[in-house]
Amino acid sequence: MAATPTTKVLVSTFLSFFFFLFHGASPAPVASVRGLSEEGDSSALLAFKSAVSDDPKGVLAGWGGSPDACNWTGVACDPVTRRVVQLVLREQKLSGELSSALGNLSHLRVLNLSGNLFAGSVPPELGSLSRLKFLDVSSNTLAGTVPPELGNLSRLSSLDLSGNAFAGPVPRALGKLSRLKQLSLADNQFQGSIPLELTRVRSLEYLNLGANNLSGPIPAAIFCNLSALQYIDMSSNNLDGEIPIRPDCLLPNLTFLVLWSNNLVGGIPPALANSTKLRWLLLESNFLGGELPSDGMFGGMRNLELLYLSFNYFRSPRNNTDLQPFFASLTNCTGLRELGVAGNDLPGTIPPVVGRLSPGLRQLHLEFNSPQPLP
Ligand SMILES: *[C@@H]1O[C@H](CO)[C@@H](O)[C@H](O)[C@H]1NC(C)=O
Ligand SMILES: *[C@@H]1O[C@H](CO)[C@@H](O)[C@H](O)[C@H]1NC(C)=O
Ligand SMILES: *[C@@H]1O[C@H](CO)[C@@H](O)[C@H](O)[C@H]1NC(C)=O
Ligand SMILES: *[C@@H]1O[C@H](CO)[C@@H](O)[C@H](O)[C@H]1NC(C)=O
Ligand SMILES: *[C@@H]1O[C@H](CO)[C@@H](O)[C@H](O)[C@H]1NC(C)=O
Ligand SMILES: *[C@@H]1O[C@H](CO)[C@@H](O)[C@H](O)[C@H]1NC(C)=O
Ligand SMILES: *[C@@H]1O[C@H](CO)[C@@H](O)[C@H](O)[C@H]1NC(C)=O
Ligand SMILES: *[C@@H]1O[C@H](CO)[C@@H](O)[C@H](O)[C@H]1NC(C)=O
Ligand SMILES: *[C@@H]1O[C@H](CO)[C@@H](O)[C@H](O)[C@H]1NC(C)=O
Ligand SMILES: *[C@@H]1O[C@H](CO)[C@@H](O)[C@H](O)[C@H]1NC(C)=O
Repeated sequence: MAATPTTKVLVSTFLSFFFFLFHGASPAPVASVRGLSEEGDSSALLAFKSAVSDDPKGVLAGWGGSPDACNWTGVACDPVTRRVVQLVLREQKLSGELSSALGNLSHLRVLNLSGNLFAGSVPPELGSLSRLKFLDVSSNTLAGTVPPELGNLSRLSSLDLSGNAFAGPVPRALGKLSRLKQLSLADNQFQGSIPLELTRVRSLEYLNLGANNLSGPIPAAIFCNLSALQYIDMSSNNLDGEIPIRPDCLLPNLTFLVLWSNNLVGGIPPALANSTKLRWLLLESNFLGGELPSDGMFGGMRNLELLYLSFNYFRSPRNNTDLQPFFASLTNCTGLRELGVAGNDLPGTIPPVVGRLSPGLRQLHLEFNSPQPLP
């Protein structure tokens, strides 16, 4: 009954030729090459729909009504090939499982099912979506381990699995995603150490591993080899060891460094001074120690807004009596809004230089430090 794929290819080739003749090199108007969606795509979408067990808003109710899947809610097609290139159904309260038939949408570039109630696991078949650039299944109730097949998505630019119940290790295969710019695995139950393979993803700008159960040290190569990083969040895990930023490891674009609630030891690495775009440095609730940073560390960080060092073991110079150098080192940070050094066993004296800190400083946390010794 329907045209065979071969006929459709011929028709669309004919149309392209026709438009080429009459319009030269100018782009053909979208509507003029309209045809039906590809049958394989429609059947994959219907299989996806049949694995949805509840659709309280009825977003998928019209699916299958029109023979052209390109007209279905949440679906977008390439205007010329009529292949499905986007499936975006965000925050629709859909529940059920993710059908493995999604892996048949071979022209898909964007898959966004964020903010639904999908359960079950991620089908390994998604790994065959070789054109996929954006994959977002964040904020669902997906579980299980992440299939290593996702490492085959060689064009992927953004992968967001955050806010689910994924467990097991962070798959080493993600290190094959050589074009990845954004990776969020936050707010799951990933365990084990941060795989060294991730340091192969040189394009990475955004890395969020926060709120998992990761342990072991932070691989030095994350800070040393991923120089495009702008955002690093590894907070609320069980990571230990030092913050591994060596003087030869430059993170010139680092803007957010969020490592609070871990078991990190050592000091704030002096080489961080080179990350002059830093806006958030959130290191509270670790076992960091040594002298609070003083001259040089923050001098170039004119955009610093949040500096959280509370609940660590920082000390001040002169046998922990002098907070002046630390506060003085922050006088160039004219955008500083919140500064926390509570709970560090520091002396309670507030040096006059505090009056020269950023006029926008809204919060200064000094509580739970040792009381000022009597003179
Ligand atoms: C997906 O593709 C496979 C292999 O080509 C095929 O066997 C299967 O029927 C397709 N599934 C759907 C739902 O179209
Ligand atoms: C798809 O929708 C367009 C307008 O939104 C309409 O003109 C067209 O007839 C529809 N196609 C099918 C096959 O339903
Ligand atoms: C997917 O949708 C969510 C929620 O609307 C949005 O925040 C997110 O940016 C989208 N993801 C992608 C990759 O476009
Ligand atoms: C996809 O990845 C898996 C596991 O990483 C691998 O075994 C498989 O050969 C890959 N398939 C293709 C087509 O590359
Ligand atoms: C976290 O991982 C450790 C093993 O590294 C395990 O003993 C513990 O139960 C895990 N905690 C949670 C909340 O999953
Ligand atoms: C980091 O980069 C250096 C120099 O380019 C290279 O020798 C090293 O193998 C890389 N390390 C990792 C873990 O990729
Ligand atoms: C830092 O950002 C700038 C501007 O976006 C960009 O040109 C540069 O390549 C980035 N540096 C690195 C090491 O990625
Ligand atoms: C900043 O980077 C340079 C290399 O460009 C390095 O020589 C210097 O030691 C770094 N600064 C600090 C404080 O580590
Ligand atoms: C503030 O910046 C200037 C110019 O870059 C620099 O010379 C000075 O040492 C910095 N002051 C502090 C307290 O870091
Ligand atoms: C530093 O302080 C500790 C206890 O407050 C004291 O025992 C020690 O003698 C002091 N050291 C110096 C060099 O003042």
